Amino acid sequence: MRILGLGTDIVEISRVTDMIERHAESFTERIYSSYEIDYCSSKKNASQHYAGRWAAKEAVMKAFGTGFIKGIHWNEIEVISQQSGQPEVRLSGETSTFARQRGIDQILLSISHGKEYATATAIVCSE
Ligand SMILES: CC(C)(COP(=O)(O)OP(=O)(O)OC[C@H]1O[C@@H](n2cnc3c(N)ncnc32)[C@H](O)[C@@H]1OP(=O)(O)O)[C@@H](O)C(=O)NCCC(=O)NCCS
Repeated sequence: MRILGLGTDIVEISRVTDMIERHAESFTERIYSSYEIDYCSSKKNASQHYAGRWAAKEAVMKAFGTGFIKGIHWNEIEVISQQSGQPEVRLSGETSTFARQRGIDQILLSISHGKEYATATAIVCSE
């Protein structure tokens, strides 16, 4: 396995709360998959989990070495939670094609959140 990139991000949870209150579905549906919306909205402190996923998406974009550019879509970088709670990244659409063209086979992700901030770190690898 070869490491191709590393990315990290930190997100203010109150910023995400404001975005959800101000824009509701037009925000959540642009940024998150329906799986992620179901996961976060089932939790007691939904904003904390939305913020962790926002940080995860930004961390993945940084690990790609590009940031947010044409061909990469927020809701095509999806965080899937395993039974254990461990997060995994699933890419789809144009974002998946983008990653495949760069030889990316696997993405490792870790998320953490406190009261005010959520953070995530991603590592992209080739097999
Ligand atoms: C994994 C664990 C260390 C998380 O630590 P924490 O300080 O409580 O929470 P943090 O804010 O740092 O991290 C939360 C994130 O950890 C990640 N996470 C959860 N379980 C995980 C696991 N088994 N492996 C890796 N990452 C995990 C998730 O991404 C979660 O955020 P999300 O729900 O928004 O996806 C802790 O929940 C644990 O030990 N879990 C296993 C045992 C268990 O489930 N106990 C239940 C209570 S008794």
